[in-house]
Formats: sequence, C-alpha cells, structure tokens
Amino acid sequence: MKVYVPGDSAALALGADAVARAVMTEAETQDLDLHVVRNGSRGMIWLEPLVEIETEAGRTAFGPITPDEIPDLLASPSTHPKALGPVEDLPFFAKQTRLTFARCGLTDPLSLEDYWTHSGFAGLTKALKMSPQEIVDTVTTSGLRGRGGAGFPTGIKWQTVLDCDGPQKYIVCNADEGDSGTFADRMIMEGDPFVLIEGMIIAGLAVGATKGYIYLRSEYPDAIRVMKRAIEIAQGAGILGDSILDSGKAFDMEVRVGAGAYVCGEETSLLNSLEGKRGVVRAKPPLPAHEGFLGKPTVVNNVISLATVPVILDKGGEYFRDFGLGRSRGTIPIQIAGNAKHGGLFEAAFGMSLGELVDEIAGGTATGRPVKAVQVGGPLGAYFPREKFDTPFGYEEFDGQGGLIGHAGIVIFDDTADMQSMARFAMEFCAIESCGKCTPCRIGAVRGVETIDRIGRGDLEATEILTDLCETMREGSLCALGGFTPFPVMSALTHFPEDFGPQKEAAE
Ligand code: NAI
Ligand code: SF4
Repeated sequence: MKVYVPGDSAALALGADAVARAVMTEAETQDLDLHVVRNGSRGMIWLEPLVEIETEAGRTAFGPITPDEIPDLLASPSTHPKALGPVEDLPFFAKQTRLTFARCGLTDPLSLEDYWTHSGFAGLTKALKMSPQEIVDTVTTSGLRGRGGAGFPTGIKWQTVLDCDGPQKYIVCNADEGDSGTFADRMIMEGDPFVLIEGMIIAGLAVGATKGYIYLRSEYPDAIRVMKRAIEIAQGAGILGDSILDSGKAFDMEVRVGAGAYVCGEETSLLNSLEGKRGVVRAKPPLPAHEGFLGKPTVVNNVISLATVPVILDKGGEYFRDFGLGRSRGTIPIQIAGNAKHGGLFEAAFGMSLGELVDEIAGGTATGRPVKAVQVGGPLGAYFPREKFDTPFGYEEFDGQGGLIGHAGIVIFDDTADMQSMARFAMEFCAIESCGKCTPCRIGAVRGVETIDRIGRGDLEATEILTDLCETMREGSLCALGGFTPFPVMSALTHFPEDFGPQKEAAE
C-alpha cells in the first residue's frame, strides 16, 4: 500500500512531517506493508495535510489529517469520516485544466522513474529532434506569454536571443517569486522539479545556450533543497551535461540563491545580483535578450513560463493555443490567497471571471463575511471592488480595468479591510523595497506615505497631491516597483473613497 503525505512547504507548515512520522509508526504497530511517498501538493491548501492512500480501488484522499487520526485512518480507511474520494473528483480540482501542474502532487518529485511514467521528457525528446527555429516557432505558435507578470510573448523573446550572434548565451530562470499571495513557482519547484529542468533544457536548445541558472529566493529553503537534488539526479542520469539523453547536445544548470530583496525579481536587478553585484535595476535598453548575464544574450523567464514549455513541445503549439481568451492563450495557474474559504492553486484556461474565481472557486471569505476587495497581481496590483468582478481573467481585460494579472495571485479581503491602510502599506512597501536608482520611486514612495498620513489626519486636499504623485511615479519610474505602486494606491482611493480621511480612525 502506498500512502502519500505531501512534502510541500505549505503542507509542512500545517504539520505534514508529523503526519508522515505517525504513518511510519503506525505501520510498524499494525504490521502494515506500506510505503510513504512525500509527494508535492495537490494545491488545496485548506485540506492540507492531504493524505492519499493508494488501494486496489484507486487513490483516495483524506484531509486535513492530524497525527492522532492516523491509527483509525490506516485501520479502516473506507469508513474514515475525513474520506474525500479521489482528488480528481473534488470540485476545486475537477474544474481545473492542469497542463503545467499536471504531475504536481501526483508523483514523487524526485523520482525520475515517476517523471518518465507520467509523460516526463516527452517534450524534450521531441525538441532534441527539432531545429532551434522549429522549437522557437512552436513556442510562438502556442501564444505563451511571460507568466512572471509582464506577459511578453515568450516566443518573441526566444527569437531575439536565437538571432543574437555569440558563442555563449544563457538561460536564467527567475524564481524570485516575491509577490504577496503567490506560490505557483514554489509549488512546481517543490512538487515537480524535473519539469522546470526540462523546460530550461528546451529553452537552451531553442536559443543555443548551454548553461542555465535558477535564481531562487532564500525564503524558499524547501524549493532550494528539492531543486538542487533534482539537478544532481538529472546530471547523474545523463539528462543534464555534455550530452543530453545521448544526443551530443550540451546543457547544464545550477541554483543560485538570492538574498531577499523584492526588487531582485526585476530581471536586470536579478542579473546584477547573479553576477555578484548589488541588486539595483539596470536601464533598458540594452535588453537582457541582447546583453544579459555577464553581458551575453540571455533568456530571462519566470519558472511557470519555462515549466509550461515541455507540455507545449509535447502536445504542440496549437493544442496550447486553443485554450484561453483573446491574446491570453493557454492556461494560467491562479493562486488564491488571503481571506479565502478555499485557498490554493487553481490552473485554468484564461477567461474565467474574477467573480467566478472569488465566489465559486474560492467560496468567498474564510471569515464568512462579505468580500470587500480583491487584490490581483501582487503588492503592485490593483484592488478590485465587487462592481468589477465580471472582468475576465486575461492580460488585456485586466489592463482595460486599470489593473494587471501579474503573476496571477489573487488576495481576498473581507469588509473589515481598511483600504486607506492598504494604500499606505503599498507606498511603505515601495519605500522599503526601492533599489534607490530613480527619484520618483526613491523619494516618491516616502512622500506617498506622508501624504496618506496627511489624508488620515483629515487633510483631504492631500488626495490631489497623492494623485499627482502617483502619476509622477507611474510615468517616471525606471521599473515596475515604482511604476506600478500607484495601482494599489489609486484603486483603493478610487473605489473605496469612504475609507480615506479621519472618519475611520475616529470610529475605531
Ligand atoms: P517589461 O514589459 O519591461 O518586460 C517584459 C519582458 O519582455 C522582459 O523580460 C523584457 O526583457 C522582455 N522584452 C521586452 N521587449 C523585448 C524584445 N523586443 N525582445 C525580447 N525581449 C523583450 O516588464 P518587466 O519590468 O520585466 O516586468 C514587469 C512585470 O513584473 C509586472 O507586470 C509585474 O506584474 C511583474 N512582477 C512580478 C513579480 C513576481 O513575483 N513574479 C514581482 C514584481 C513584479
Ligand atoms: Fe529602483 Fe524603484 Fe527606480 Fe525601480 S522604480 S529602478 S526599484 S528606484
């Protein structure tokens, strides 16, 4: 009998290690012949630790499970009160289209055998028989756009690097997932690390790069451990190295750990940090595609962009392109967080409305109170009020409503949220995390905090100054940190004006 207990850090935070130990102890006590697999997460965080037992009838889920429930669970799984049935039948899971996350939670993340069995390296095997241009064309056809936030077409970025001359090019994976409410990068690295390795090798074959780096944030110790081990396993198996799967083509990679600056998720700042320099933003041009790591042509892609490439190569660009809405093609792993009844990872084709995601998929708030606002796209994303919940999930659609989907994290707030405090938090966050290179952000964010405090003291004329300041930051900042901070600030001010001013403080 196989028993699956997730080793994903969300599950660990909720006691998965203690559950796994209890399973081992109980197996000895009851003299059971069982094997514990530490799988990735199935993405339903409110059910973690989610234990699955594989019996002759199939794989059945139970959750959330505590260690003291293990004896009864193993003695009579079929009658256990926390039996949920197959994961695939749970509504949150059944409504998804899992392409990038197809294997996550299903397999042992560090088992190459599992990976091969579940269509692993099918994309790479095809890519090894294709020319670089054919690989780039397939990605271009798929319509894949950068999942880090900016949504730039991946195929065009790869074409730019392919077209550059030079003996040395690089693939850099941006795994500095810093947005609040986002965890898709972490989940895939912990739950299916070989898919990222496969995606990076394919990117290398496409543009002529033989070396890759994963820039991984220090706050993700489990992802760092799993990724490093997966790379060692792939190197030992001849998947990375001088001759990928005996093809005679070379690609190798390593993990580099960041030091905890939000701005190092910005690609040029990341490249500086990777080179051992201070993580300040570089002016563009030159684009990293032309002069990136160590001045060489470099593909900088987010984890999810790269991890989506294998399924595109395996099933074809058209297959992927056929999902989605407008210019937003394929599927997107949406991360539901904050005050959500059902938080977790929900991969779906673009096009669902924000309201469907919040009310039906997330089930509203965990507190049971009405939803007041949803912040989409991390700390630089706009707050959406209920009036805008019919906005379909897509790059242009969110842009048209004064927002962005960013890295597709949605954070839900109930009616107790004070939007003036949230606007102040956005400015304060920018002031703390600013790299200091440009004035609108370095000085503007500090002045922004002061101006919101003035409004809070009853100086309502300061709202005009705040609006002006936001315009200056948006138009004049060098990168998205200063340039996008106005999104949360102005959306809070525009949609929730009643929260601005001294009234709220007086009421408290
Ligand atoms: P950008 O629009 O400047 O660039 C997007 C990407 O396209 C970059 O990699 C750029 O080098 C590339 N590019 C642009 N033109 C190109 C061309 N002609 N050929 C080849 N490549 C080209 O956006 P930026 O500043 O890189 O990213 C901003 C986004 O980052 C925001 O939308 C925000 O949502 C997101 N973000 C994500 C975070 C996360 O944790 N994932 C954190 C903070 C921001
Ligand atoms: Fe640095 Fe802020 Fe300017 Fe970006 S906007 S370059 S983080 S000072």
